[in-house]
Amino acid sequence: MKSIRKAVFPVAGMGTRFLPATKASPKEMLPIVDKPLIQYAVEEAVAAGVTDLIFVTGRGKRAIEDHFDKAYELEAELQAAGKVKLLKEVRGLLPAGVNCVYVRQGEALGLGHAVLCARHLVGDEPFAVILADDLIDAPVPALKQMADQHARNGASVVAVQDVDRSETGAYGIASVKPAKGRLARMTGIVEKPKPQEAPSTLGVVGRYVLSPRIFHHLENTPRGAGREIQLTDAIARLLEEEPVFAYQFEGRRYDCGSKLGYLEATVDYALRHEEVAEGFRDYLGRRLRAGEGAR
Ligand code: UTP
Repeated sequence: MKSIRKAVFPVAGMGTRFLPATKASPKEMLPIVDKPLIQYAVEEAVAAGVTDLIFVTGRGKRAIEDHFDKAYELEAELQAAGKVKLLKEVRGLLPAGVNCVYVRQGEALGLGHAVLCARHLVGDEPFAVILADDLIDAPVPALKQMADQHARNGASVVAVQDVDRSETGAYGIASVKPAKGRLARMTGIVEKPKPQEAPSTLGVVGRYVLSPRIFHHLENTPRGAGREIQLTDAIARLLEEEPVFAYQFEGRRYDCGSKLGYLEATVDYALRHEEVAEGFRDYLGRRLRAGEGAR
């Protein structure tokens, strides 16, 4: 069994689609009900067996470091106020034996460049990449599903989902060999093709298990669109020399980098949140019955 120990969280993007909310605070700290996106991502990594969390941060991202640091004053106040449940939650953000490290991406030169910034921390072993703004609700955490596939075949695994052809321009699109199950050998990958040019409708979403060979390709990938180094371009080169698999994970993905996806996630997670589900369901019912113009 080849297990994945390290996960890279690129969190240095500009988050322009959420401005002004993301002007001073990172997109990954946006909460879905009461937990920031980055925490869902970290919990998914930990559930897949990851012990080393590598955050690639940029300007204005200190909130993420603070979030995972011990908060002595807050803990003391919660303790004094007898708020035991909250204290437990704040203390239990990271299980024992899980470590955080941070590396800066000095300039936002793209997702590929962000991953390359973690090279010296990852070293020469397969690793995961998680984009926290893709929130995945799944019976078995999506990265765990992928890590299990990787443990069987030792190859890189990229998460994909079937998207509407009209949306291919928003995704990396994978072409694959015909296959029966969820796993298929990737034969090509292109970044944001127009619908009429897309080789398939398998869109890449923000979960990857990658061979360390990807760093070689990232280093040699010229800057593509918008001066950015694209992870997609490096994967395209990787699959010419190593097997790379596309994996259709089981679960629902919310694109929390977009306003609509973020709101959908908020509604769905609120509807099953132990504290607010009932009240929120009542409110939504009343609100919908009252019609669109009502307040
Ligand atoms: P996005 O394409 O969603 O870009 O990045 P963005 O800047 O975060 O958001 P918008 O499009 O301007 O609203 C995908 C992921 O890659 C990270 C982002 O933080 C996000 O998790 N990223 C992107 C970096 O870490 N560095 C970069 O230079 C670019």
